Amino acid sequence: MFDKKIIAIINGANLDMLGDREPEIYGSETLDEIVSSLKKKAESHNSRVVHTQSNYEGDIINKINLSFLKDVEGIIINPGAWTHSSYAIADALKNFKRKGPVFEVHLSNINEREDFRKINVLTGISDQIFCGKQSESYHEALDSMINILKNKQI
Ligand code: DQA
Repeated sequence: MFDKKIIAIINGANLDMLGDREPEIYGSETLDEIVSSLKKKAESHNSRVVHTQSNYEGDIINKINLSFLKDVEGIIINPGAWTHSSYAIADALKNFKRKGPVFEVHLSNINEREDFRKINVLTGISDQIFCGKQSESYHEALDSMINILKNKQI
């Protein structure tokens, strides 16, 4: 049997508040609910999800850099508002890309909201973007990541 593929799911600022936070935009599921269903899906595909959420930018950068050094094969990230401002997170992801794919997720459609959300400093770094489908955006990203990593094995 092949080893399990390890996928890091990383969530940035304020995503710990899902469920309570503007449910009309982000949906009513909590982050725990979303992550536990993603973990179940990964397990049923011989993969493993490791999850981190932090409201501190440095924690997110450390997690990306550790993912590069350890046995993580792909990253799925929702940086929250840092999507629009963090060149430091963008730099860390650019480095991780030497090793594996980076998929970006947003629950809302950032292109159809306030102007500041249309600025995305990860443009050109994320291999794929999944957005505007609330928690389904994460599921689509995970399905696609599992497929890509499976094909890399051959
Ligand atoms: C978000 C969109 C960002 O603009 C916002 O700051 C978030 C969540 C999303 O998932 O839709 O915190 O990344």
